[in-house]
Amino acid sequence: MPSLLVLNGPNLNLLGTRQPEVYGRVTLTDIEEMCVAHAKLRDVGLSFQQSNHEGVLLDAIHDAKGKHDAIILNAGAYTHTSIALMDAVSSVELPMIELHLSNVHAREDFRHSSYISKVALGVICGFGARGYTLAMDAAISHLGHSA
Ligand code: DQA
Repeated sequence: MPSLLVLNGPNLNLLGTRQPEVYGRVTLTDIEEMCVAHAKLRDVGLSFQQSNHEGVLLDAIHDAKGKHDAIILNAGAYTHTSIALMDAVSSVELPMIELHLSNVHAREDFRHSSYISKVALGVICGFGARGYTLAMDAAISHLGHSA
Protein backbone atom coordinates (compact mmCIF):
# COMPACT_ATOMS: atom_id res chain seq x y z
CA MET A 1 0.00 0.00 0.00
CA PRO A 2 1.54 3.35 -0.99
CA SER A 3 1.90 6.02 1.65
CA LEU A 4 1.46 9.78 1.29
CA LEU A 5 2.87 12.61 3.39
CA VAL A 6 0.62 15.68 3.47
CA LEU A 7 2.79 18.49 4.78
CA ASN A 8 1.50 21.93 5.74
CA GLY A 9 3.56 25.03 6.38
CA PRO A 10 3.23 28.26 8.35
CA ASN A 11 -0.08 29.75 9.46
CA LEU A 12 -2.11 26.85 8.10
CA ASN A 13 -2.83 25.84 11.72
CA LEU A 14 -4.96 29.00 11.82
CA LEU A 15 -7.34 27.86 9.07
CA GLY A 16 -10.95 28.42 10.04
CA THR A 17 -10.32 31.86 11.52
CA ARG A 18 -7.52 33.12 9.23
CA GLN A 19 -8.85 35.35 6.41
CA PRO A 20 -11.98 33.21 5.89
CA GLU A 21 -12.85 35.26 2.77
CA VAL A 22 -9.67 33.82 1.19
CA TYR A 23 -9.27 30.42 2.85
CA GLY A 24 -12.80 29.51 3.94
CA ARG A 25 -14.06 28.37 7.36
CA VAL A 26 -12.71 24.84 7.26
CA THR A 27 -10.10 24.11 9.95
CA LEU A 28 -6.89 22.14 9.44
CA THR A 29 -8.36 19.44 11.69
CA ASP A 30 -11.39 19.21 9.36
CA ILE A 31 -9.00 18.87 6.40
CA GLU A 32 -6.98 16.19 8.19
CA GLU A 33 -10.20 14.23 8.86
CA MET A 34 -11.14 14.54 5.15
CA CYS A 35 -7.71 13.27 4.15
CA VAL A 36 -7.79 10.36 6.63
CA ALA A 37 -11.23 9.30 5.30
CA HIS A 38 -10.03 9.65 1.71
CA ALA A 39 -6.90 7.60 2.43
CA LYS A 40 -9.09 4.77 3.79
CA LEU A 41 -11.33 4.94 0.71
CA ARG A 42 -8.37 4.85 -1.68
CA ASP A 43 -6.45 2.30 0.39
CA VAL A 44 -3.30 4.36 0.95
CA GLY A 45 -1.29 5.20 4.05
CA LEU A 46 -1.24 8.81 5.22
CA SER A 47 0.74 11.05 7.51
CA PHE A 48 -0.66 14.56 7.96
CA GLN A 49 1.67 17.17 9.50
CA GLN A 50 1.92 20.93 10.01
CA SER A 51 4.69 23.19 11.23
CA ASN A 52 5.31 26.91 11.38
CA HIS A 53 9.08 26.29 11.31
CA GLU A 54 11.08 25.92 8.10
CA GLY A 55 13.63 23.55 9.70
CA VAL A 56 10.89 21.24 10.97
CA LEU A 57 9.40 21.13 7.46
CA LEU A 58 12.85 20.31 6.06
CA ASP A 59 13.23 17.46 8.57
CA ALA A 60 9.78 16.13 7.65
CA ILE A 61 10.75 16.05 3.96
CA HIS A 62 14.06 14.31 4.76
CA ASP A 63 12.25 11.76 6.97
CA ALA A 64 9.77 11.01 4.17
CA LYS A 65 12.43 9.14 2.19
CA GLY A 66 11.91 5.42 2.70
CA LYS A 67 8.65 5.97 4.63
CA HIS A 68 6.39 7.62 2.04
CA ASP A 69 5.96 7.31 -1.71
CA ALA A 70 4.84 10.88 -2.48
CA ILE A 71 4.56 14.25 -0.78
CA ILE A 72 1.71 16.76 -0.99
CA LEU A 73 3.13 20.09 0.09
CA ASN A 74 1.27 23.25 1.02
CA ALA A 75 4.32 25.26 2.05
CA GLY A 76 2.28 28.41 2.78
CA ALA A 77 4.37 31.56 2.41
CA TYR A 78 7.59 29.50 2.27
CA THR A 79 6.43 28.58 -1.25
CA HIS A 80 7.53 32.01 -2.40
CA THR A 81 10.80 32.25 -0.44
CA SER A 82 12.36 28.92 0.43
CA ILE A 83 15.21 27.61 -1.69
CA ALA A 84 15.88 25.23 1.23
CA LEU A 85 12.49 23.51 0.85
CA MET A 86 13.00 23.29 -2.92
CA ASP A 87 16.43 21.67 -2.36
CA ALA A 88 15.02 19.27 0.23
CA VAL A 89 12.41 18.01 -2.23
CA SER A 90 15.08 17.56 -4.94
CA SER A 91 17.30 15.72 -2.47
CA VAL A 92 14.79 13.07 -1.41
CA GLU A 93 13.73 12.35 -5.02
CA LEU A 94 10.09 11.68 -4.11
CA PRO A 95 7.25 12.88 -6.35
CA MET A 96 5.78 16.03 -4.79
CA ILE A 97 2.55 17.86 -5.60
CA GLU A 98 2.40 21.54 -4.71
CA LEU A 99 -0.91 22.56 -3.18
CA HIS A 100 -2.61 25.83 -2.27
CA LEU A 101 -6.12 26.43 -1.03
CA SER A 102 -6.32 29.78 -2.79
CA ASN A 103 -5.66 30.55 -6.43
CA VAL A 104 -2.26 32.18 -5.84
CA HIS A 105 -2.17 33.44 -9.46
CA ALA A 106 -5.25 35.57 -8.88
CA ARG A 107 -3.64 37.20 -5.83
CA GLU A 108 -0.70 39.56 -5.16
CA ASP A 109 2.26 39.47 -7.55
CA PHE A 110 4.62 38.05 -4.92
CA ARG A 111 2.44 34.91 -4.73
CA HIS A 112 2.89 34.25 -8.48
CA SER A 113 6.41 32.92 -8.09
CA SER A 114 7.11 29.59 -6.42
CA TYR A 115 10.38 27.81 -5.67
CA ILE A 116 8.29 24.72 -4.92
CA SER A 117 6.84 24.63 -8.47
CA LYS A 118 10.34 24.17 -9.91
CA VAL A 119 10.55 20.69 -8.35
CA ALA A 120 6.85 19.76 -8.30
CA LEU A 121 5.22 17.06 -10.36
CA GLY A 122 2.25 19.41 -10.66
CA VAL A 123 0.36 22.15 -8.87
CA ILE A 124 -3.20 22.26 -7.54
CA CYS A 125 -4.49 25.62 -6.38
CA GLY A 126 -7.75 27.50 -5.99
CA PHE A 127 -10.05 24.63 -4.99
CA GLY A 128 -10.03 25.29 -1.23
CA ALA A 129 -9.99 22.29 1.10
CA ARG A 130 -11.11 20.01 -1.76
CA GLY A 131 -7.65 20.54 -3.26
CA TYR A 132 -6.26 18.16 -0.64
CA THR A 133 -8.24 15.16 -1.86
CA LEU A 134 -7.64 16.20 -5.49
CA ALA A 135 -3.90 16.23 -4.74
CA MET A 136 -4.13 12.82 -3.05
CA ASP A 137 -5.87 11.41 -6.14
CA ALA A 138 -3.23 12.96 -8.40
CA ALA A 139 -0.47 11.35 -6.32
CA ILE A 140 -2.27 7.99 -6.22
CA SER A 141 -2.76 8.07 -9.98
CA HIS A 142 0.90 8.98 -10.51
CA LEU A 143 1.93 6.03 -8.35
CA GLY A 144 -0.29 3.76 -10.44
CA HIS A 145 -2.28 2.61 -7.42
CA SER A 146 -5.95 1.63 -7.57
CA ALA A 147 -8.01 0.88 -4.46
C1 DQA B 1 -1.33 29.34 0.58
C2 DQA B 1 -0.98 30.51 -0.34
C3 DQA B 1 0.27 31.23 0.14
O1 DQA B 1 0.57 32.32 -0.72
C4 DQA B 1 0.05 31.77 1.54
O2 DQA B 1 1.21 32.38 2.02
C5 DQA B 1 -0.45 30.72 2.48
C6 DQA B 1 -1.46 29.79 2.02
C7 DQA B 1 -2.67 28.68 0.18
O3 DQA B 1 -2.90 27.55 0.62
O4 DQA B 1 -3.47 29.27 -0.54
O5 DQA B 1 -0.07 30.70 3.65
O6 DQA B 1 -0.31 28.37 0.47
